[in-house]
Amino acid sequence: MKVNKAEIIISAVAEAQYPGDNLPEIVLLGRSNVGKSSFVNTLIERRNLARTSSQPGKTQTMNFYQINDLFRFVDMPGYGYAKASKTEREKWGKMIEKYLRQRENAAMIFQLIDSRHEPSEDDVLMYEWLTYYNLNPVIIGTKADKISRTNQKKSTNQIAKALSLKSPREVILFSAETKLGKDEVWQRIESVLK
Ligand code: GTP
Ligand code: MG
Repeated sequence: MKVNKAEIIISAVAEAQYPGDNLPEIVLLGRSNVGKSSFVNTLIERRNLARTSSQPGKTQTMNFYQINDLFRFVDMPGYGYAKASKTEREKWGKMIEKYLRQRENAAMIFQLIDSRHEPSEDDVLMYEWLTYYNLNPVIIGTKADKISRTNQKKSTNQIAKALSLKSPREVILFSAETKLGKDEVWQRIESVLK
C-alpha cells in the first residue's frame, strides 16, 4: 500500500477517547522495547511518527495512527515493563485488556516477539490469553537484522515451540533496519481491509 497520509488521531488512556467511527484497527502488542513503534514507522515509511526509544516504556498511551483515512494502527504500551510501578502496569494491563475484549474495530492483532531471545513468560501468557478469547494474533519476530541466517531459523523454531504454533512458518521475521518482512506484513494487513 502506498501511504499518502499518516497522522496521529489520539493518544488515549480511556475508552471514551477512542475514535467513534468504524475504521478497522490493526493492533500492535508486545513487550516494552520489542519494536512496536518502529514496526509502524517502517511500514508507513515515516522515521518518527510513532515515537521510539532505546529506553523501554516509551509508549505509555494507546496511540491511534490513521493511515490514508482507511484504517488505523493502534500502538500499545509494552507489557512486562519492569521499571513501571505495579499500579501503572495494572492500569495499562486493564486498558489493553478492555480494548481487546470490547473494541469492534479491531481487525487484526500483531504480537511482536524479540527474535533474539526465547519468548518470555509474558509473551507466552499474552499469546495464550489472546487465543483463549479467539483473538488469534499474527506473530512477528522483531530485530531480525541482529541475528544470523542460521539463527533466524532457530528463532522461528523456538518461538513456534514456546507458543505451540503448528509451524515455524507462521512467524514473520521482521526488521526495521533491513525492512525484512515488510511486504509480507502489508499483504496480511491488506487481506483484512477488503
Ligand atoms: P515501548 O514503546 O517502550 O513499548 O517500545 P516499542 O516496542 O515501541 O519499541 P521501539 O520501537 O521504541 O524500539 C525500541 C528500540 O529497539 C529502539 O532503540 C529501536 O531503534 C530498536 N529497534 C526496533 N526495531 C528494530 C529492528 O528491527 N532492528 C534493530 N536493530 N533495532 C530495532
Ligand atoms: Mg513504543
